[in-house]
Amino acid sequence: MNNEVENTGKSPLLGKNILIGLTGSISCYKTCELIRKLIKNGARVKTVISPATLEFIGEKTLETLSDNKVYCDTFSKSRSTEHINIADWADLFVIAPITANTISKFASGIADNLITSTFNAYLGLKKPVIIAPAMNTGMLHNPFVQNNIKRLQNEGVKIVESETGQLACGTVGDGRLADVEKIYEKILENFHPERTSDQMTTKKRILLTMGGTKEPIDPVRFISNASSGRMGLCLADCARSMGYDVEIISTVKVENRPYKITYVNSALEMLDAVEKNFKNADYLIMAAAVADYRVKNPCSTKLSKENTGESVTLELVQNPDILKNMGKIKKENQKTIGFSLGTENLVETAKAKLQAKNADFIIANKAKVALNTGENEVWIIDKGGNATHIEKSSKENVAKAILERVL
Ligand code: CTP
Repeated sequence: MNNEVENTGKSPLLGKNILIGLTGSISCYKTCELIRKLIKNGARVKTVISPATLEFIGEKTLETLSDNKVYCDTFSKSRSTEHINIADWADLFVIAPITANTISKFASGIADNLITSTFNAYLGLKKPVIIAPAMNTGMLHNPFVQNNIKRLQNEGVKIVESETGQLACGTVGDGRLADVEKIYEKILENFHPERTSDQMTTKKRILLTMGGTKEPIDPVRFISNASSGRMGLCLADCARSMGYDVEIISTVKVENRPYKITYVNSALEMLDAVEKNFKNADYLIMAAAVADYRVKNPCSTKLSKENTGESVTLELVQNPDILKNMGKIKKENQKTIGFSLGTENLVETAKAKLQAKNADFIIANKAKVALNTGENEVWIIDKGGNATHIEKSSKENVAKAILERVL
């Protein structure tokens, strides 16, 4: 095992004793990367695990990476005061991944295995703890689990929130172990608290609209389009994992997400919601497919063939352009980003829209690829008229590429 320090002298982790706790989650493999990084940056690492952890990762792997024995649960193997010794040894205790089960035991003071006993002993010493939860979305949103997380936070335990994405159980949702970089960053913050307040004051806010608007004809009928809101949701999830505060205005139901969401139907309702929230946003991303026209006089009662006869004529009037309106009132530090869906002359049309709506970026996408599929192919147009092509890929990948360029 090569314990050579990569960042000699300057690393804030140099000589720090970091106790890494692991519990039974498929994401244990990511913790290996974290341990490697901590050691490369000069930290001394010991690992303590719950019995279930060994279902997901080998003891030898942790032992080799940390260059220390693994503290696990069998009393026959361990000395009975081991939990006290490692609690004393550690400058920081990081439990990543932590399951719903261990969170709840920690919060209740249960000490039925080596990791929970260590936590019990350690917390009494008033030393710092960081937890990074990983579990299925339903478990994460279970009110008991949420309550237990809050109880731990009330005792000063820091949390690296889980991310949204594809989970091991196959569903897409909240509960994926945070990126190793984020956990590492939180560890650095622990040894340099001033970094935390810096980051809190600079956390940027994104207001994002998504889904196709529904323009009423009568109380039960509307005019709409084929937008599913999927690209918008990928952008929201990706922005959140990049550390942005995301607020959504949507016409489609968003399941299992932690965002503040305002649901709207029509373009007029969307305009109203955007106007109310724009002043607090650093970025407005208009991923919604806003109908250009609405019915001038929607009927207040359901139309029926009895009174409409052979044919019906609907008079349409233009909707206000939300992106354009915000483009007029935005402050210097606010950026507006729009989408442009087309079938031909995509880049040229997008450039014209960027000018007309005073946007900072327009994302041109091909109707054929984007609508009702899991993929997209886009060109990102900036104010200088440059077009960056993002090749056809999953909407998740395209969202990441867009945000890396525009934020
Ligand atoms: N948009 C908006 N308000 C509208 C129409 C569109 O804010 N009333 C926003 C969309 O959310 C998108 C961008 O403007 O981000 C471009 O929308 P698009 O419908 O492609 O462009 P239009 O300017 O409406 O042009 P077109 O005539 O091609 O539909």
